[in-house]
Amino acid sequence: MAEKKIIAVTGATGAQGGGLVRAILQDASGGFAARAITRDVNSDKAKALAQLGAEVVAADIDDVESLKRAFGGAYGAYCVTFFWAHFSPEKELAEAKAMAEAARYVGLRHVIWSSLEDTRRWVPLSDSRMPTLMGKYKVPHFDAKGEANQAFTALNLPVTILLTSFYWDNFIHFGMGPKTGPDGRLAITFPMGDKKLPGIAAEDIGRCAYGIFKRSRDFAGKTVGIAGEHLTGAQLAAGFSRALGQEVRYQDVPPEVYRGFGFPGAEDLGNMFQFKRDFEEYFCGARSIATSRSLNPALQTFAHWLDQNKGRIPTG
Ligand SMILES: NC(=O)c1ccc[n+]([C@@H]2O[C@H](COP(=O)([O-])OP(=O)(O)OC[C@H]3O[C@@H](n4cnc5c(N)ncnc54)[C@H](OP(=O)(O)O)[C@@H]3O)[C@@H](O)[C@H]2O)c1
Repeated sequence: MAEKKIIAVTGATGAQGGGLVRAILQDASGGFAARAITRDVNSDKAKALAQLGAEVVAADIDDVESLKRAFGGAYGAYCVTFFWAHFSPEKELAEAKAMAEAARYVGLRHVIWSSLEDTRRWVPLSDSRMPTLMGKYKVPHFDAKGEANQAFTALNLPVTILLTSFYWDNFIHFGMGPKTGPDGRLAITFPMGDKKLPGIAAEDIGRCAYGIFKRSRDFAGKTVGIAGEHLTGAQLAAGFSRALGQEVRYQDVPPEVYRGFGFPGAEDLGNMFQFKRDFEEYFCGARSIATSRSLNPALQTFAHWLDQNKGRIPTG
């Protein structure tokens, strides 16, 4: 049998990378092997991946030499940064550059860069519709990822720029689930008006990425956007009402109110939702559900994801 193509996966113990490692391992005859990258090969999550059959190696995306070692001998790499671990767009940019440099150094045949839009292309810093944050960004956790595309393309890497979507898992882990309002009723709150929010089960991002690696020839050099569904706040709320068996309302708030909620990242997310609301046609258009399903035939709908996860969603 031909030797398996190794995919080196950053963030392997997390949402995106974990989905990819599991997708590779679940397809034993697919011709790929998973190399899970972690800073701590002895963590429970790392050991669980080893148990599933992944090769587990240590590297830190802040350390280019460790990345060169971790990428060595691989066919491809999945590259992702972790904004919410440090809140620094400059750090994300430097990490993307390190991953691109390591990919070039070892001569990878296909790289997926988990990116998002540089919203400043649509909303320049001079545009007063939304405040400029951290001195030179509109949506810091988007803008640096978009800016970092260049780190990969400038090195002529065979890169697929992957535009991901809002994880529905944020309803579990990011404090965005239904909350009881002063009227005693449950509501989800977004500044999206009646516009559609592309969303996805986080696990499906890795599964789509696996579909991209399987079709390298079609997707190297391309930008691909993925989503499970495009749903309005009202449709998300209706999904919750059905799954939870009690009414959940959608509460629309102006972006400036959302920016003022005061939790870490509220301004960034307020601007992000405003961008998605004001550029709905572009943003949804860039994330084709049909393409996502062709990459990942098991792509979940919101209803399906809710049925699997409703017991894990904190409400109250
Ligand atoms: N939440 C959303 O809706 C959403 C939507 C689109 C895009 N995103 C983006 O997704 C990115 C995060 O991806 P994720 O959700 O898959 O992350 P995650 O689940 O938080 O996983 C992070 C993993 O990355 C590893 N890690 C952290 N710092 C590292 C470093 N310096 N070097 C090597 N590994 C490191 C950690 O593993 P070890 O501890 O094992 O090293 C951790 O398990 C963010 O940049 C965010 O902007 C999020």
